[in-house]
Amino acid sequence: MENFHCNGTDWAVYVKGNGFPVLFLHGFPFDHSLYNLACVPLIDEFRVIIPDLPGFGESQFPQLNPPYKFTMDEYAAGIADLVEQLGEEKVIICGLSMGGYIAMSFFRRYASRLAGLIFSDTRSTPDTPSAAENRLRLADSIRKTGTEPLAEQMIPNLLAPKTVNNHPDVVQFLRDMIVRQSASGIAAAARGMAARDDSTEFLKSIDIPTLVLGGTEDKISPPEAMKSLADWIPRSEYVEIFDSGHLPPLENPVLFADTIRSFVRRIVKTDSRAS
Ligand code: MLT
Repeated sequence: MENFHCNGTDWAVYVKGNGFPVLFLHGFPFDHSLYNLACVPLIDEFRVIIPDLPGFGESQFPQLNPPYKFTMDEYAAGIADLVEQLGEEKVIICGLSMGGYIAMSFFRRYASRLAGLIFSDTRSTPDTPSAAENRLRLADSIRKTGTEPLAEQMIPNLLAPKTVNNHPDVVQFLRDMIVRQSASGIAAAARGMAARDDSTEFLKSIDIPTLVLGGTEDKISPPEAMKSLADWIPRSEYVEIFDSGHLPPLENPVLFADTIRSFVRRIVKTDSRAS
């Protein structure tokens, strides 16, 4: 991991490989290692960039006053700063779930820095009032309850039954990843997600190649929801990742990586023809 100071906070970032830059944003409450299995094969061909978002993994918790809150726009501002510091004019951003909310915010504010977008298992709509209330309750209680009950509660919804039954190693990896996250990082992200805007109208204005991916057994962002998200975006393509719930990079890393590889190759080819 390399260290960067982005938008006032210390970020730990995995940066490896040469070639077109592809930046991966993890979901909630995870860290860069969500992409370990899927991204290692991509470093042969691309510059793979995977930050731990502030408050997660090895990244510093931002200097905030309680009650801690980190908005999607604040994460996106940090990413813009990171892209600048990495010397990249344009990147392709892949955002999974909360990472997708951040990618939408990034498009709204820094579209000129994007060559393409990948949305995996995410949504453009804001929280319902009851979902937002649950998030605020979680933010208020996580310090007291700790992260273990959160992991136990989340895992059955995150993974496909096949993953749970046949891949105890993946279940354990995911449990460990959730359990090691900080209470403050979780609270800040939960409050930020509860406050996020509806990005649906903006999807129509995404004028760059966009890949929409969804696990066939995702209960949180089901295939119908992902398909209709893709329908809003003029230049989108939609691919379902079989044998996967909400977390394709963990549950079917080979197909996730292969699909991204061919999407990025096409963008790079078109870009080099244009220049
Ligand atoms: C995620 O995986 O990032 C979460 O499902 C996002 C959310 O809680 O809305």
